[in-house]
Amino acid sequence: MMNLRRVKIASLPTDLYRMNRLSDYLGLDVYIKRDDNTGLALGGNKARKLEFLLGEALDKGSKSVITTGAVQSNHARQTAAACALSGLECHLVLEGGKSVPNQGNLLLDRLLGAEVHIVKDEDEANMYINALQAKLAAEGKNPYVIPVGGSTPVGAAGYFAAMMELFSQSREHGISFDKIIFASGSGGTHAGLLAGALCLGVAPSLLGVSVSRAAALLRRQTVDLANALLSRVGFPALATPSDVNVTDQFIGPGYGVPSDEAKEAIRLFAHLEGVLLDPVYTAKAAAALLHMAKEGTIQGNILFWHTGGSPVLFAMGDQII
Ligand SMILES: Cc1ncc(COP(=O)(O)O)c(C=O)c1O
Repeated sequence: MMNLRRVKIASLPTDLYRMNRLSDYLGLDVYIKRDDNTGLALGGNKARKLEFLLGEALDKGSKSVITTGAVQSNHARQTAAACALSGLECHLVLEGGKSVPNQGNLLLDRLLGAEVHIVKDEDEANMYINALQAKLAAEGKNPYVIPVGGSTPVGAAGYFAAMMELFSQSREHGISFDKIIFASGSGGTHAGLLAGALCLGVAPSLLGVSVSRAAALLRRQTVDLANALLSRVGFPALATPSDVNVTDQFIGPGYGVPSDEAKEAIRLFAHLEGVLLDPVYTAKAAAALLHMAKEGTIQGNILFWHTGGSPVLFAMGDQII
């Protein structure tokens, strides 16, 4: 696609199908896009972003990659896997408390051969990254630094391409979607989907369900990122804030803390569809879907875009059951 190098690391296209039992339960036509099955060490949305991010890293001749996130970051885990696959040295600077058990994503980060550096907060992470970057550069490893969530214009290109994938699947199935619902953290997934939809001239209503940031802030970040991506790939930067539909009503008690609605969503998707949601991202997006279905505020064909995250289940069992 476009003028960006892409390495093949994700299993694509991901499945798209109607969730029959959940649809019957809700009295609504609900479809799912299975980006929890993108491969790359247990799936998730970052596999798509990393195809372009590591493409750029390899173009730049980098021998090492640095990224950051929370201690249970899915992005960190998939970056570790993508680096293993591409023969790049991977450094993860993760924000965590004093005792961080080797569970969930952190266990996988270590198994995948990443060097894990635990820091206390974002300030310490930034200082650590600067120092590490200088050290790796001095060693001739030309580090490629990926910000939180991989949400740069290059990373968001993964979801621009994903929108093209959905468009061709929709045509094959003879179906169009009235609303597409997904979890939004750093806004890269939303920005890529929006940029893709604008280029295709299709107008599905995208709804990003914030898991952490206030809607106004996330909207601004998303529109800026969408426009930076559009410019990067040679299209006019035509996204406006009114194109970005975001809700912050389903964050619950806070980032990474499951709400009662999220727990109910995990239970329903598992019992009715055999689909595993995660408590930090996808269960909150599904909680928004369930809420709107119960209120009768969504109609037509609804697509739930599953963005992954299931390894976190194994680090938060007691908070979910
Ligand atoms: C499972 C899962 N879903 C959704 C997101 C949000 O994606 P984005 O940061 O592109 O908004 C993330 C980001 O870490 C994630 O891990």
